[in-house]
Amino acid sequence: MVKICCIGAGYVGGPTMAVIALKCPSIEVVVVDISVSRITAWNSDQLPIYEPGLDEVVKSCRGNNLFFSSDVEKHVAEADIVFVSVNTPTKTRGLGAGKAADLTYWESAARMIADVSKSDKIVVEKSTVPVKTAEAIEKILTHNSKGVKYQILSNPEFLAEGTAIQDLFAPDRVLIGGRETPDGRRAIKALKDVYAHWVPEERILCTNLWSAELSKLAANAFLAQRISSVNAMSALCEATGADVAEVSHAVGKDTRIGHKFLNASVGFGGSCFQKDILNLVYICECNGLPEVANYWKQVIKVNDYQKSRFVNRIITSMFNTVSGKKIAIFGFAFKKDTGDTRETPAIDVCKGLLGDQARLSIYDPQVTEDQIQRDLSMNKFDWDHPLHLQPMSPSSVKQVSVEWDAYAAAKGAHGLCILTEWDEFKKLDYEKIYENMMKPAFVFDGRNVVKAEKLREIGFIVYSIGKPLDPWLKDMPTVA
Ligand code: NAD
Ligand code: UDX
Repeated sequence: MVKICCIGAGYVGGPTMAVIALKCPSIEVVVVDISVSRITAWNSDQLPIYEPGLDEVVKSCRGNNLFFSSDVEKHVAEADIVFVSVNTPTKTRGLGAGKAADLTYWESAARMIADVSKSDKIVVEKSTVPVKTAEAIEKILTHNSKGVKYQILSNPEFLAEGTAIQDLFAPDRVLIGGRETPDGRRAIKALKDVYAHWVPEERILCTNLWSAELSKLAANAFLAQRISSVNAMSALCEATGADVAEVSHAVGKDTRIGHKFLNASVGFGGSCFQKDILNLVYICECNGLPEVANYWKQVIKVNDYQKSRFVNRIITSMFNTVSGKKIAIFGFAFKKDTGDTRETPAIDVCKGLLGDQARLSIYDPQVTEDQIQRDLSMNKFDWDHPLHLQPMSPSSVKQVSVEWDAYAAAKGAHGLCILTEWDEFKKLDYEKIYENMMKPAFVFDGRNVVKAEKLREIGFIVYSIGKPLDPWLKDMPTVA
């Protein structure tokens, strides 16, 4: 029986390994993590992450060929294939702070593998890492090898949160990069055989190591670029009377462009896009390519602009101040169907409103009060000026309350902002919400989920991203 061990039981390690276990009953899969609480949660009925379809997959193989353990060293030592799926955040201090990937967790995982291994292993980079990381890992492993042989493969993960299980069941492609040597090719074949249990062969792409590592950064940069492109257009639509939904529909009909990932929004969030583009920017700078670095940087700048533009729109619409006004926030997660708040645009929008002394009342179906308070009390990390952390005043956090119901959040509010596209926000009784709000009652739809015309009929003043402006908003000063 082939034994797989995955280091890192997070948003990627957990779902990916659960699906491998489900699709490969002949393989034993153990997911390990240094966080004991995370492992305890994976072994309980309350999994540590919310992901549609995940519970069923875990329940059907946990205890059979899928195990979660905090005995990291034992399971790494026993495995034939070791996936490394630890977090690789942006460095916040030292050389490359604000852009470079922090490989501390990766390096400590690699050193631990070298320490405990007594048999040959295939080590698979599942985490998103800078191009050429495999070379560094190879050095750490071989210099500490005690006769054990390693093959390093790059097998980046392309799943998106909220659709992880369907993405893993039917991936557009699986990418495996390895050394172009007989041992390297054998290792690629061994990993390919795992995926071949359910992924059609033509969707398993085998490349050299550097192409695989770079393709992951490139894919995220291209995806994020589409959102920044359509968001840049949304600002122009508002200025001219064009409708961004009509523009993106027309543009996306061109088969060379395609219709997906062209939804204008308050900005992209999540743990990957900003981090991976910054990583790419840093690699370009280190390779003496400042023009290329600046090109990709602009994708993040437009994203920051979109968030501050949204905040400015709210403030100017509401008579140029939100001081002391209650604003309901519908949705805090970075997208629907996840409880993940990493880099969610809601953090910047809420902080912007708190900066103008608003009172916030927040509701998200999957994000806990603790998490929201933690996110809002953390210093904002300014990627462009990493040495100037903007401190958060503890008093403004007192201006935040968290509700477990959209109606309660909106009660007595002057305005409401939709920051996550949860399906339930489309189906709310907006007449009831309107009745219980202060007048004039404003809706700022950061995800274009509500029908603006219907809400205007009720009496709301509605702002939707990139849509012709509400007559009320037209008379307000233009936002920068
Ligand atoms: P995560 O923070 O949810 O999980 C990482 C886990 O690794 C944590 O539970 C942490 O405790 C554990 N860990 C760290 N160091 C360890 C060590 N030395 N030994 C054992 N466990 C250790 O992160 P994630 O979202 O799963 O992302 C993991 C990687 O996958 C990142 O490189 C990310 O860029 C990449 N990725 C993420 C997504 C996504 O949608 N989240 C998608 C594709 C790729
Ligand atoms: C992303 C990539 O899609 C995935 O392939 C990679 O493996 C990890 O990073 P994820 O961050 O989980 O996945 O979610 P994604 O669906 O890409 O959304 C990212 C952000 O972009 C969200 O805040 C989302 O709301 C926003 N978005 C997405 C838009 O604003 N408009 C769109 O059209 C699409």
